Amino acid sequence: MKVILSSQMRRELQTLVAQPVAWEVPLAAHTSLRIGGPAEALVTVEDCAELASVLSFARRQAVPWRLLGKGSNVLVADDGLAGITLMLGGGFRRLEKIGDREVAAGAASVLPALSRFCQENGLSGLEFAAGIPGSVGGAVVMNAGAFGGQIAAWVSALELCGEDGPRMLPASELRFAYRAWLDAEKWRGQVAITGVHFILRQDDPAAIAARMEEYQRARRLGQPHGATSAGSFFKNPPGDSAGRLIDTCGLKGLRVGDAMVSPAHANFLVNIGQATAADVRELARLVREAVHRRHGVDLEQEVEEW
Ligand code: EPU
Repeated sequence: MKVILSSQMRRELQTLVAQPVAWEVPLAAHTSLRIGGPAEALVTVEDCAELASVLSFARRQAVPWRLLGKGSNVLVADDGLAGITLMLGGGFRRLEKIGDREVAAGAASVLPALSRFCQENGLSGLEFAAGIPGSVGGAVVMNAGAFGGQIAAWVSALELCGEDGPRMLPASELRFAYRAWLDAEKWRGQVAITGVHFILRQDDPAAIAARMEEYQRARRLGQPHGATSAGSFFKNPPGDSAGRLIDTCGLKGLRVGDAMVSPAHANFLVNIGQATAADVRELARLVREAVHRRHGVDLEQEVEEW
């Protein structure tokens, strides 16, 4: 890992946040693939004021930063990440009902908790998210979805935090596509999503719970459970399924080191032990190549590479 922060910069950075900065800790502990080299500085912020001061520091010192959510859709390099890796602390985990149909969720809260909170409050829409192990903020950035549902359909506003403090972005200013928030690039490096507001539909809590259970059952049947993965590795090409395409190439069980195409679902690349990011990358390359050769389809990666 390249080192960017001088010892003086490190001292200054620590003064900006209450929690101790973790220096050079392996990110494998913070990703669902259990892969990833050290973060030069792993900084947990508890509110927008702390976040704003770190973003200001990063800009003044020209230090790159990224925000890590639950780490469930990311492949972190074995070399690790130079600069600042931000995490949102417990201060960003609130779940709050506002009025009849609105829910505000901190970006660091997780989808299963949000889904359950909505169910308990008789609010329908996010049942599909009950089994997605990601953070609410991350779910917006990738427009997470399952079973015909997607986050974008229910978002009414985003809470953002930048150097100048908090601001709200209404849904009318948000553009989404399949597994993508199209404005992410425009905001990158300037703000972080710190909260998400949803407008939902009122329904009977028991009916909502039944749908959640149905989705969970389908997930248990069709996807590897307990496996160390980042979920679907490739996006589905229009009108088809990456899992089906990979499966028909006979690739289930294919391995590079400890990275393997899951025998349960061909679009899950799983870490069965000590897989490295290089193993996963090579396995993904072989998969893409085979699918291109056999089906003439270029698979696009869903999992982000850092
Ligand atoms: N299939 C195979 N072989 C396989 C896997 C799937 O033939 O190894 C076939 C299935 O039989 C089915 C079709 O492919 O006919 C689609 O499979 P599945 O129902 O499992 O859904 P998917 O398209 O692979 C998508 C999302 C999942 C989401 C499920 C459930 C993408 C890339 N993936 O998977 O999302 O949970 O639908 O709705 O859109 C994720 O994004 O990380 C994720 C897990």
